[in-house]
Amino acid sequence: MKAGTAKATAPRTRLGKGPKERMSDNKETFYITTPIYYVNDVPHIGHAYTTVAADVLARYKRLKGYKVLFLTGTDEHGQKVEKAAETAGVKPLEFADSVVVRFKELWVKLNISNDDFIRTTEERHKKAVTHLWEEVKKKGDIFLGEYEDWYCTPCENFLTETQLKDGKCPDCGRFVEKLKEPSYFFKLSKYGEPLLKYIEEHPSFIEPQNRRNEIVSFLRDGLRDLSVSRATFSWGIPVPNDPKHVMYVWFDALTNYLTATGYPDNARNEFWPADLHIIGKDIMRFHAVYWPAFLMSAGLPLPGKVFAHGWWTVDGAKMSKSKGNVVDPVKVIDEFGVDPFRYFLLREVPFGLDGDFSIKALIGRINSDLANDLGNLLSRSISMIEKYRGGVVPEGDGSKDRPELESKVKGLLEALPIAFDSRIDELNFYDALNKVWAVVREMNGFVDKSAPWKEKDDKTLSNILYTLAEGLRILAVYIYPFMPASAQKVWDGLGVEGDISNRSFDDEVRFGKGKAGKHIKKLPPLFPRIQ
Ligand code: ME8
Repeated sequence: MKAGTAKATAPRTRLGKGPKERMSDNKETFYITTPIYYVNDVPHIGHAYTTVAADVLARYKRLKGYKVLFLTGTDEHGQKVEKAAETAGVKPLEFADSVVVRFKELWVKLNISNDDFIRTTEERHKKAVTHLWEEVKKKGDIFLGEYEDWYCTPCENFLTETQLKDGKCPDCGRFVEKLKEPSYFFKLSKYGEPLLKYIEEHPSFIEPQNRRNEIVSFLRDGLRDLSVSRATFSWGIPVPNDPKHVMYVWFDALTNYLTATGYPDNARNEFWPADLHIIGKDIMRFHAVYWPAFLMSAGLPLPGKVFAHGWWTVDGAKMSKSKGNVVDPVKVIDEFGVDPFRYFLLREVPFGLDGDFSIKALIGRINSDLANDLGNLLSRSISMIEKYRGGVVPEGDGSKDRPELESKVKGLLEALPIAFDSRIDELNFYDALNKVWAVVREMNGFVDKSAPWKEKDDKTLSNILYTLAEGLRILAVYIYPFMPASAQKVWDGLGVEGDISNRSFDDEVRFGKGKAGKHIKKLPPLFPRIQ
């Protein structure tokens, strides 16, 4: 593991490590994670959301030349999973085995490009967590005591009497139970001040800003030491030298991010510290207080950024099993296609804010942005190249003599990389897509204004058609992280050889990189309209 303390990490103004941390093969690393999901329940759109967002960044960073480690997985220990298995009448591991399949299948269906999938029941993880525990213990930060207070099992969270709201969990609103048991504690109270200082010195460590403010005020209220073991059930990783205790499920789960880097060995340690933990706002405190405190205690560098996105409701209501309104992503994908679903999730709501899912809104997006704008632009461009140039992309250069026409399209495409890159680095997917769609719409306007069907001048007509083919080739590169399969179909339709995924983003978005002479292919509509 790389040497250094929390302070060794430089503040980051963008996603990714700085040039000094380049690897010997000259590639910067980029390590991105999703939460590891509990296996007490099957995946729904909330899990899909976080994982698609991480996938977009992983795909984008690979195109930008980074060596990426994209991790997701499952959180399988703890009382909540143990109870779910008990209800199902099977052993916890057997129960986890069956639910893990559901997650893995969904990620394949959603075209998720994770490089690793971690299960907390794996040996490599037990080894990592046990080692981290020992490091923290060596530091004098773990001591034996007794826990006597409240516990919320759905959140796997310890609570004080004053934190309860009407006697229930302040976060999920469900019943809490009173615990009284021997427990190991982590000296969290010792890390309040260092954490506040770290957050002040690294303003982009916690985002968005409203979440950072919440964490800062939580820290200013003062921290209690944290119970990090349980002795009244056994489904967990045993505490070293005291197997009557299992480790607190969050101590166990958070360490997954280290496990995947090969910790405590050196297998993949080039990836630590992680660049980005993407999580939902529900688990901010665990990631922005407990996790950095454990790392500080162990003398390890802290992750670059913890970003908490907002919460999806469904048709205006909180998703819950009892209401029966939990949206199954598999059904949505089967009905509407994987790419429209991926696009919708990131285009409908600015990342960081809460959103509402409805089939009506999904259909609206598909018909307007995908069928009317992008699909239509592709199909009319391909038809015209076929009709006027026998299916071969003609010569052109997006010439400068018609400022409202070709050259405007070319100018917009030339300005797009800077705008797009900065939005993506801010995790502002919504605006990044807006910028791309502004060009899609401008290009549709360009077809109308330049009216190729009336154009008498051969050279001008060629230039219009080249500009359309070249613009679409470039737009596909921007669209690729969001809708990988559809972007590739755009290239295939335009006769561009190869896989977008193997190309360099910066090279491919240059206007003029695409050459004339390519043979277009007529494909079925990319995004059929939904009635
Ligand atoms: O918390 N809207 O697992 P979990 C948006 N195992 N995102 C949602 C969502 C919704 N309605 N519902 C769930 C755990 N999510 C722990 C994590 S990490 C070391 C351990 C997403 O299965 C969102 O990312 O309860 C949220 O943080 C996560 O699923 C919670 O998943």
